[in-house]
Amino acid sequence: MFQYLSAMPADPILGLLTKYRQDSHPQKVDLGVGVYKDPQGNTPILASVKTAEKFRLDTETTKVYIGPTGSASFNELTSALAFGCEHPALNAGRIRTVSTPGGTGALRVAADFIGRCKPGATIWVSDPTWANHTGLFQAAGLTVKTYPYYDYQNKTLRFDDMLATLKTVGKDDVVLLHACCHNPSGQDLTVAQWDQVVALTKDCGFMPMIDMAYQGFGDGVDEDAYGVRAMAAAVDNMLLASSCSKNFGLYRERIGACSIIAKDSGQADVALSVLLYVVRCNYSMPPAHGAAIVETILGSAELKAQWLEELKVMRDRINGNRAILVEKLKQNGVDRDFSFIARQKGMFSFLGIDEQQVATLMQDYSIYMVGSSRISIAGISEDNVDYLAKSIAAIL
Ligand code: LMR
Repeated sequence: MFQYLSAMPADPILGLLTKYRQDSHPQKVDLGVGVYKDPQGNTPILASVKTAEKFRLDTETTKVYIGPTGSASFNELTSALAFGCEHPALNAGRIRTVSTPGGTGALRVAADFIGRCKPGATIWVSDPTWANHTGLFQAAGLTVKTYPYYDYQNKTLRFDDMLATLKTVGKDDVVLLHACCHNPSGQDLTVAQWDQVVALTKDCGFMPMIDMAYQGFGDGVDEDAYGVRAMAAAVDNMLLASSCSKNFGLYRERIGACSIIAKDSGQADVALSVLLYVVRCNYSMPPAHGAAIVETILGSAELKAQWLEELKVMRDRINGNRAILVEKLKQNGVDRDFSFIARQKGMFSFLGIDEQQVATLMQDYSIYMVGSSRISIAGISEDNVDYLAKSIAAIL
C-alpha cells in the first residue's frame, strides 16, 4: 500500500523548529513558530497555570471518560470569556460550546460540521491566512477561496477590496475571519471596520466563522473579542474556533473550543448533535487536562486576576518588541520604513523581504522565519535585537 505515497514537504511553520534546534550558531534567532518567549528566550509555564495544576493533582479523583463535549464547566467559562458574560446570544440559549484538542481541533470539527451542513461548501479565507487553514479545510472536503486582505506594498488592509469580494459571496458559503492578531500579517480590523463587515455579513447572508487563536494578545481579552461579540449579536448562524494555547501558554496540552451560534435554542440543540457526531467520528472526545487548568483559573476570581496580569505581561512584551525592532532597524542605518511593525498587533508581522532574503537570513545568519517573511515578534529579545537588526540591514 505505502508504495503509492510520495513524501510531503515539511510543514512551512513547524518544519522550522527542527532546523532551528539543529543549528549550533551561538547567536541563532527563532522567529518561526508563534510561541511566546520571555526575555531569556524561554516559554515558561504561567504561575496561575502551575497553581491550577497543583489543585488538579490534589483534587482529581478519576480518569473516567469525559464525553465528546468535554468539560461542561470549561465550555461555559470559555464561552463567557469569548462572548462576554451577558451576551444576548448566550442569554437566549443560542450558543453551544464543546472542548477541542487545541484551536486546530476546533477548526477541524467546525470544518467537518460545515461539510455536514453542505457537502463541499466553499469557505473564503483571507489572502494571506494561517498556512494550515487551507490544508485543513481541504482535508475536510471544503472548497477554499480567498478574499483580498493584506496590502503587501503599503502594509495596510485592503479593506475596500475585501468588502467588494465579500459582497459577491453566496448565501451558502462560509467566510473565515480572524478575531484579532491576524496570522500572519498582524493587520487587524478596526472596530469601525468590524461594524461594516458585520453589517455586510447580515446583508449578504453567508455564514461567518471566526478563528480566535490570540484572545488577549492584541489589546485585551474584551477588546480582542469585539468582532466575535458584534457578529454573534447580529447573525443567525455562526461558528467560533478558539484556542487556549497562546493566552494560557498551554500549547502542548491541546485545548481549545468550538462554539456554534444558532437561530434559537432548538436549532442550537440540533446543530450540537451534529457537532458531537463529528467529534465522535474524529477523535471521540477531547483531552481533559488543559480544560481542567483553564476552568480552575477562570472559575477563581483570584487566579483569573493573576492570569489576566500574566497575559498583560506577555502582551506588553510583544508590543514593546515591536517598537524596539523598529527603533533598532533605524539605528542600524535602515532607511526603509518599518514603522508598520509597531502599528500591527499580536504575535506576527511580515518583514516584507523576499524569499531569497529570508533564505539568506537563515543560511548565513541563523535567523529563522517563515518563507513569506512572517516573523514571530515574541522571538525578539534585548539580547538578540541588535544582531537581528544588523543582519536585516546587511541583507537589505
Ligand atoms: C503559528 O502560526 O506559528 C502557530 O499557530 C503554531 C502553528 O501551529 O502553526
